[in-house]
Amino acid sequence: MNSDNNQLPKRAQWTSNFGFIMAAAGSAVGLGNLWKFPFLVGQNGGSAFIFVYLFFVIFIGITLAIAEIAIGRSTQLNPVDAYEKISPRLKWVGVLGAVSGVIILSYYAVVGGWILFYLAKSLLSFNSSLDYTKVFDEYTSNPGLQFLTFSIYFIINYEIIASGVQKGIEKCSKILMPALLVMMILVTIRTLTLDGAAEGVEFLLKPDFAKLDKKTILSAMGQVFFSLSLGVGTLLTFGSYLKKEDNMLRSAVCIPIIDTLVAILAAVAIMPAVFAYKLKPTAGPPLMFITLPTIFSKMPLGNIIGFVFFALVFFAAITSSISMLEALISFFVDHYKWDRTKAVRVNTAMTYLLGIPSALSFNILKDFHILPDKTIFDFMDFLASNIIMPVGGIALCIAVGWIWEGGIRRVKINDTSATEKDSYLGYVNNSAIKEITNNGKIKFTMISIWAFFLKWLCPVAILAIFIDNL
Ligand code: TRP
Repeated sequence: MNSDNNQLPKRAQWTSNFGFIMAAAGSAVGLGNLWKFPFLVGQNGGSAFIFVYLFFVIFIGITLAIAEIAIGRSTQLNPVDAYEKISPRLKWVGVLGAVSGVIILSYYAVVGGWILFYLAKSLLSFNSSLDYTKVFDEYTSNPGLQFLTFSIYFIINYEIIASGVQKGIEKCSKILMPALLVMMILVTIRTLTLDGAAEGVEFLLKPDFAKLDKKTILSAMGQVFFSLSLGVGTLLTFGSYLKKEDNMLRSAVCIPIIDTLVAILAAVAIMPAVFAYKLKPTAGPPLMFITLPTIFSKMPLGNIIGFVFFALVFFAAITSSISMLEALISFFVDHYKWDRTKAVRVNTAMTYLLGIPSALSFNILKDFHILPDKTIFDFMDFLASNIIMPVGGIALCIAVGWIWEGGIRRVKINDTSATEKDSYLGYVNNSAIKEITNNGKIKFTMISIWAFFLKWLCPVAILAIFIDNL
C-alpha cells in the first residue's frame, strides 16, 4: 500500500450501492419530474411527448450517465481535477459544471420555497372559495415572504449537506426516496378514481403525433438533461464516492429508469385530475401552483391528498438540491484540502447571495431584465439549462468518446501487438472500459451501440438543441 494514502483524509464514500442509487436517483428526481415534466406533457400533446422523451432517455440519458459515472469512479476526483486528468485542455468543463450547480441551486431554492409555502397552505387547508391564480400572484409579488421561504429552504438544504455525504445526503435520500414513491402511488390512486379521470388517461395513452413539432422534440431533449442532472458533474462526483467493487453499469442504467418512472407517474397522478375537473392541461408552469391547488380544494379528501402531494414534491426537491453543490464542495475538499464543513459553509453562503436577486425577481426586480424578456430568475434557468448543460453534455461525449486515453475505439484488425488483455469485445481496453466492466468482470454486451451513441449520435443531437435554443 502506498504510504502517501495514509496521510490523506479518507475520501467520502457511499455505504452501499443502494445508497448510491438512492442518492443519485434523489438528485435526478426533482422539480424536473414533478413540476416540469407534467406541464410539458400537458403542453406538448400528452403521450406523444412521453414517447419522444422515452426515446431520448434511452439513447442519450443512459449513454451519458454511463460515461459520466465512469469518469468519477475511475479518477476518484471532483469534476475539475477529473477533467484535467483526462486532458489539461478539458479542465474548463469541470469548472463550468461545478459553477452551474451554484447557478441552478440559486434559483431552484426559490421554487423550493414556493413548495414550502404551499405545504404550509395545505396544512391550513385548501379552500374552494379561493382564486388560486390570485393566491399565487399575491404570494410571489410579496418580497418579504419570497425572501423568507427561500431562506428557510436554504437553511434546510444547508443542514443536510453539512452532515456529510453518508450521514446527510445518503441517509436523507434513502429515507425520502422510498417515501416519495409510496406517497405518489397514493395520490395516483386517488386521482385515477375520480369521476371523469378516464379522459386524462386517454390523453396519456393515445399519442397525438400531429402535435409533434421541432419545438417538442427539442424540449424533450432539454428535459432529459435537466431531469437526469446530466453533464454538469453531479453524477461524476457521486460516482467518485462509489466503491470500486460495485457494479456501476447497473446503477447507471437504474438511475435513468427510476427517474423516468417517477416522471411518468407524476403525469399519471396529475393529468386525470386536470381532466376530471375540466381544467386545461396546457397551463404550463402554473400547473402545479394554480391548477393543482384548485383541484385539491374541490376534490374529496383533497386536503389530505394536497398535503401529501406537496410533501412529496418537497422531498423530491430537497434530495435534488442537496446534490447541486456537491461538485464544487468536492473540488474544495480534494484540491485545497478544506474540511467539508468549511467548504459547505462558503459555498452555501455564496449561492444564497446569488439567489437573492432571483427570489426578488417576481416582485422588486420584476422589471429588471438581463436579456430581453428574461427576469433574473429566467436568465439563471436559461443559462444553466440551455447553455451550460448542453455544452457540458457535448464536452462529456467528446472527453470520453474521443480524448480519454485515445477515446473508445476498436482494436485495429492488423494490430498484432494487441493481446486479449488489451482489448474488451474488440475495443481498446482503456480506463473508461475497465471502469465500466470492473476490469472485464462485468458483461457490457451493448458496448458497440454505446460507443456509437457516445461518439456520434449524442454530440450531434445535443449540438442541434443547443444551436436551436440560441
Ligand atoms: N434533476 C433535478 C430535477 O429534475 C435537478 C437537478 C439536480 C439538477 N442536480 C442537478 C439539474 C444538476 C442540473 C444539474 O429537478
